[in-house]
Amino acid sequence: MTSDGILFINGSPRRGRSTSASIIGHMRNLIGDSLRTDVVFATGCDLSDRDLVDSMIGSRIIILVSPLYVDALPSEVLELMRTFEENDLRGISFMAVFNCGFPESSHNSTAISICRNYSAANGMRWLGGLAIGGGGAIDGRPLSANGPERHVVRSLQMVCDSLVEDAPIPEEAFSLASRQFFPVWLYMIVANHQWKTRAKGLGVKKSLKYRPYQ
Ligand SMILES: Cc1cc2nc3c(=O)[nH]c(=O)nc-3n(C[C@H](O)[C@H](O)[C@H](O)COP(=O)(O)O)c2cc1C
Repeated sequence: MTSDGILFINGSPRRGRSTSASIIGHMRNLIGDSLRTDVVFATGCDLSDRDLVDSMIGSRIIILVSPLYVDALPSEVLELMRTFEENDLRGISFMAVFNCGFPESSHNSTAISICRNYSAANGMRWLGGLAIGGGGAIDGRPLSANGPERHVVRSLQMVCDSLVEDAPIPEEAFSLASRQFFPVWLYMIVANHQWKTRAKGLGVKKSLKYRPYQ
């Protein structure tokens, strides 16, 4: 890793099958050979691996791409970030891209604030946070400029152009990423159906209706 490179952190325990992986894959394609890019998975990485920490410190930019877990960051991501901040992070640029299950992107705002505070506390250069709602509508498939997520695709194009040119990311990129891209009513029908199908597969469909504390 050269000091011009980007290190992507995939925060999803679903690793290569995740929406986070779809976003990272798309960004890497857009960046192409303009900058060197590497990916580390927060889940399953060896935190005592010195090469991992060295590649992070040697990066010009770190981009965390993660699912939202309980309005915050998955625990493996927190562990990784705690390990990283034992080192000198000053001067490294940091950006966060969160995707959440609910259709409204606003659920990601606390997690983005956590990352902004982390950046400030460690003397990093904060590039901003993208908040994407309705991640289940992507569910690990490749992003498409013609799909419902086309605003996300346009946003990522702006972000990657800015990163390559070392220019500030335009405000429009953040608002485009946050735009709701799937009708809530349709999303809820699909989500409820998937939830019940998974419960049935695990033999717990009936117990979904239990109300033990009533
Ligand atoms: C343990 C857990 C907690 C979650 N918490 C939230 C949440 O607080 N808000 C939300 O909108 N989605 C939540 N989700 C849904 C994920 O953010 C969503 O499915 C996301 O698209 C997964 O992205 P990935 O494929 O990159 O892992 C949660 C999912 C799991 C498994």
